[in-house]
Amino acid sequence: MFETAIDPQLPAAERFDELLRQLDGVTAGEDDRVANLANAAAILFHGLPDLNWAGFYLMKGEVLVLGPFQGRAACIRIPLGRGVCGTAAATRATQLVADVHAFPGHIACDAASRSELVVPLLDGQRLLGVIDLDSPSPARFDNDDARGIETFAARLVEVLTRCD
Ligand code: SME
Repeated sequence: MFETAIDPQLPAAERFDELLRQLDGVTAGEDDRVANLANAAAILFHGLPDLNWAGFYLMKGEVLVLGPFQGRAACIRIPLGRGVCGTAAATRATQLVADVHAFPGHIACDAASRSELVVPLLDGQRLLGVIDLDSPSPARFDNDDARGIETFAARLVEVLTRCD
């Protein structure tokens, strides 16, 4: 069994270093896409405090489709440009949303969500999907979180490119 809990007192930079170490550990030598994404979702959900949802939406044709996650059951298909995830996918830019109720077109999957961080998974120009993190606390995420999750996304893309 892998240990995914992280000391909540750790400074942000060390927390994200630890998340990367855990990602490297669980994905080493494994080339199954679903297994690696499922473990990555668990690492994020249990490694970061104050989340109610952590997981993936993956590009399928022109639509984002729900991938492995931790949290409550969520909406399955998100068109590009819709909601926070669809906006991150359409613009290929990180979306840091302090108040989801103020975001036009936000898709409320879990009524408890108050803030959200969505980071695109980019393999060069190719969009693989997005990482989506939700929190029940307003303004839970800051720029350090955004940079930390972008680094995590880059490492995960390296893993996915060698998966079947
Ligand atoms: N709130 C997201 C939808 C996905 S759920 O948060 C899991 C959005 O607006 O894209």
